[in-house]
Amino acid sequence: MSDKKKVRIGLVGRGLMGRMHANAYTHISTIFPDLEYQPVLQAIASRNEEKGKEFADTWGFQSYENDWRKMIERDDIDAIDICAPNNMHAEIAIAAAKAGKMVLSEKPLSHEIGQAKEMLDAITEAGVPNTVWYNYRRMPAVTLAKNIVDSGRLGQIFHYRANFLQDWTISPDLPQGGEAAWRLDVDAAGSGVTGDLLAHCIDTAIWLNGGIEDVSAVTKTFIKERLHQETGKVQPVGIDDASIFHCHFKNGSLGLFEATRYARGHKALYTFEINGEHASIRWDLHDMNWLEYFDHRDDAEVRGWRKIHVSDGDQPYMDRWWIPGTSLGYEHSFIHQAADFFKGLENGGKRCAPTIEDAYETEKVCHAVLESAKSRSWKTV
Ligand SMILES: NC(=O)c1ccc[n+]([C@@H]2O[C@H](COP(=O)([O-])OP(=O)(O)OC[C@H]3O[C@@H](n4cnc5c(N)ncnc54)[C@H](O)[C@@H]3O)[C@@H](O)[C@H]2O)c1
Repeated sequence: MSDKKKVRIGLVGRGLMGRMHANAYTHISTIFPDLEYQPVLQAIASRNEEKGKEFADTWGFQSYENDWRKMIERDDIDAIDICAPNNMHAEIAIAAAKAGKMVLSEKPLSHEIGQAKEMLDAITEAGVPNTVWYNYRRMPAVTLAKNIVDSGRLGQIFHYRANFLQDWTISPDLPQGGEAAWRLDVDAAGSGVTGDLLAHCIDTAIWLNGGIEDVSAVTKTFIKERLHQETGKVQPVGIDDASIFHCHFKNGSLGLFEATRYARGHKALYTFEINGEHASIRWDLHDMNWLEYFDHRDDAEVRGWRKIHVSDGDQPYMDRWWIPGTSLGYEHSFIHQAADFFKGLENGGKRCAPTIEDAYETEKVCHAVLESAKSRSWKTV
């Protein structure tokens, strides 16, 4: 019988992220056996009893609740993990923090900046351990990029460039709202690609290149009306289908960002490139185990872009996995984030970045992007 300290998890939502997080928790004890803490899949909250119970059985949760509020009232739950649509994050997180539970929330913080601030204040006041699942930070090649930037190898940074391209909402027949299409409903999502895709690019950018000072943005809604699944009526579309902005970083570099769901042929093409005085790096989610690096100080005869397969034991997280040369996938970034969260608990509850404060910085940039596009003017973050 394990003498590890147990963290009893209550999960809200059984969609893509519900599955991804449940999967992460199931791997912690085997892949990170040295951790003092161990997650326990205590309860899942879902409105649909049949599907909720089926999810509990599939992933090994010990119990089911039909309302997340009941889960928060329970004494046998230590942490609430929020995998519900954006407009529910703040209410759940605030209730959880007030009840003294740890909060692990999906991004973005909220569908609305005011609620995001309330969420920040409630969690800060409660002082509970927290993290927000900006998981891309924990892809080994992205963590390696962070180590390279922090080592100073790039020299002064001039440019930061990021894209997140998809193509799944091009059809005008796609409805908005409801269980399957809440991302297209402004009331549930808050925004379109800005809060969904750009938020990831912004979190990574702030982590790698520091804070963003001001932004100038354009957004576009290509399809102006869609059938709403809940009302049965054709209604205006309130989300941004595409969002592009440029910005000044506090370190003096320039940023250029684009996200869209209208880039035919692209499913989830998240890329970033950083250009410094001495060297550049670039990364591509479709090739996520590789980091590309160019160093102008290399001997001229062999100078060129090198493609580093981030799979060796002395590269980030890779000592935990199989053998050098084998690749990891999307799901491993969530396993790494969960492990880092539990590791943080060992240090007296040191919070696991990105914390709620970090995520609020990203939220402010997203808000400035939407406001800039609306007013056709520069906005200070
Ligand atoms: N970190 C990432 O890379 C990443 C990726 C995808 C989604 N997300 C975020 O995760 C969150 C969930 O996204 P998803 O892709 O899992 O969506 P999803 O549509 O697959 O799942 C959402 C789940 O929430 C459930 N839900 C809705 N209302 C509920 C309620 N009142 N009580 C309990 N459950 C309820 C739905 O039934 C569904 O199971 C979103 O905030 C999204 O932005 C993050």
